[in-house]
Amino acid sequence: MQQKPETPYYVFNTEDFRKRVEYIKAALPEIPLVFSIKANPFLLTQRLPEAITKVEVCSPGELSICERLSVPSENIIYSGVMKEITDIREAIRYGAGILTAESIRHAELLEKGAECENISGKLKVILRLSAGSQFGMSEEDMLSLFERKADFKHLDFVGVHYYSGTGKSKVKKIEKDLKQIRGTLLKLKDQYDFEPEILEYGPGFAVEFFNPPMQEEDERVLREAAPLLNEFAKEVPLSFEMGRYMAATCGEYHTRVCDIKSTEGVTYVLLDGGMHQVNYFGQMMAMKMPPIRQAIVRSEARKAYTLCGSLCTTADVLARDAMLAPLEIGDELVFERVGAYSAMEAPALFLSRRLPEIWIEGDFGIKKIRGSEPTDLINVPDM
Ligand SMILES: Cc1ncc(COP(=O)(O)O)c(C=O)c1O
Repeated sequence: MQQKPETPYYVFNTEDFRKRVEYIKAALPEIPLVFSIKANPFLLTQRLPEAITKVEVCSPGELSICERLSVPSENIIYSGVMKEITDIREAIRYGAGILTAESIRHAELLEKGAECENISGKLKVILRLSAGSQFGMSEEDMLSLFERKADFKHLDFVGVHYYSGTGKSKVKKIEKDLKQIRGTLLKLKDQYDFEPEILEYGPGFAVEFFNPPMQEEDERVLREAAPLLNEFAKEVPLSFEMGRYMAATCGEYHTRVCDIKSTEGVTYVLLDGGMHQVNYFGQMMAMKMPPIRQAIVRSEARKAYTLCGSLCTTADVLARDAMLAPLEIGDELVFERVGAYSAMEAPALFLSRRLPEIWIEGDFGIKKIRGSEPTDLINVPDM
């Protein structure tokens, strides 16, 4: 018998994901696409869309997910702002196709890791340029690594990595990124005659979560940036890395009404989920209105409801004054566009609630790929 999902749960739709990736590929036909699995590793359960040639992996945990799912090692870009020798050695053992260095220390650890693992040949390394945050290294540090290239006998510096942040909806910001990258590449060419084999760029494209028409706004972002990026791809071997823009629209979060009460003119709805399971960028819950669908609509009438989660904190408000058809206890509410980051980035351990179930949907039907795991086992102290 087909299992039935139990709220709260996510459904990630692999067909929607494939269509979204194909849509991106059509706008950027010559640019290889890389999926940042931090946005949603559950999408790896099915074969990734063909247009995705590599995955970006940022931690030992993400690497072990890839190992368990037999992701081909040559398709892995092993990235991450904090690397230790043990995780570097594991990535080398697994055979990650490319590794990133985000600091001088990273380069030194990569060299040491390669030596300890006794590799034949050289590790392909891309150097991450900082955009003024903790990520990546300064241009000065990058140049100094080229100066010391002889110290890195096991490393082949094959390219540059750049990601300046997420939620970008303006072409001006992409222009600024490209200007920064061009400036650094020019210096590398002038001073070290270096030409990248790969320029790994994360544009951090925004996804519209709150203001309809959302699909149109998403399309505008890509349409306006595509000419610039396609031009840039003629100058450098550009590769395009993203999470949110690829995955957000392929997921839904289902939660159930458990209680309804009115206090001082506000109708509060208590849900079995909460803000620890839904993450629209920037923790803007309660200030914005996310796209919510009702599984059952009983009448045309609309009523203002304040939707609260189960976390016993006044911060746990998913939407204030959401205008919905009359609700009854047991009703299911569906939050759309949660395919990226919700299942991964929201503070899932708070109050030791169980994790939501995860279901995957595609041309094969729908199936459960993770149960509702307990978190109290993680939150209990070792005695
Ligand atoms: C290096 C790098 N690339 C790609 C991404 C994915 O970003 P987005 O989800 O905005 O596409 C991130 C997110 O933190 C990142 O750090």
